[in-house]
Amino acid sequence: MTAPLIEAKELVKLYQMGDETVHALAGVSFVVPRGDYCAIVGPSGSGKSTMMNILGGLDTPSGGRIVIDNADIATLTDEELATFRNRTIGFIFQSFNLLPRLSALENVELPMIYGGVLPKERKERAAALLTRVGLGERMSHRPTQLSGGQQQRVAIARALAGRPALLLADEPTGALDTQTGKDILNLFSELNREGVTIVIVTHDHEVAAATKRTIEMRDGRIVADHLNGSRAA
Ligand SMILES: Nc1ncnc2c1ncn2[C@@H]1O[C@H](COP(=O)(O)OP(=O)(O)OP(=O)(O)O)[C@@H](O)[C@H]1O
Ligand SMILES: [Mg+2]
Repeated sequence: MTAPLIEAKELVKLYQMGDETVHALAGVSFVVPRGDYCAIVGPSGSGKSTMMNILGGLDTPSGGRIVIDNADIATLTDEELATFRNRTIGFIFQSFNLLPRLSALENVELPMIYGGVLPKERKERAAALLTRVGLGERMSHRPTQLSGGQQQRVAIARALAGRPALLLADEPTGALDTQTGKDILNLFSELNREGVTIVIVTHDHEVAAATKRTIEMRDGRIVADHLNGSRAA
């Protein structure tokens, strides 16, 4: 059997706020096999973004262990972690995090510059990805010249630029209209069939139902973890 792509053991994240300690994660353990497509749901403040940030190596846990693609990410140096993220993980943030001075095309190219992809291939791949998310006509626009949903789609294209084995998405359809949201879910299903492992945070039950598995969080813990209906297969 191949090793799982993600293995989280007793993850804890504490925030000290004056006298009060916030348990953003209060002991979270789970395994994501390669090829899985899973939704993380739960009320606001339940720890979903905290967990995604730790999975993406953007934040470190206060306790516990996280292994991704056989790497114990807490033991990597900053430089090793940056390389690991660039090669393995595509991250779609809840707030899109696009660079305001760069065009849509340049934003999508950026991770490939860090990844050492040559300019010609970089531009072609960025253009193809933007076309795939329906923004072929908006490549030279800057983020402020795009609607929220369009910015979100640029962020999705950027996350896919490094051809990641793992796609992490925090509310990827939050700013999208119904039809565009459906298009993006179709794209995710397609990517998942191509072998990309996907974890998405969502408030939307229809989005969760499009995945293979739903993990439910509450107060920094996993309270349910189940496979979705056969429609998701
Ligand atoms: N930097 C921080 N300092 C202090 N507390 C924080 C910090 N970041 C998050 N928290 C707290 O940790 C808890 C989990 O936050 P998190 O952002 O993970 O929730 P979430 O499930 O993503 O919510 P939402 O659905 O609203 O995005 C919340 O109670 C939040 O107030
Ligand atoms: Mg959140």
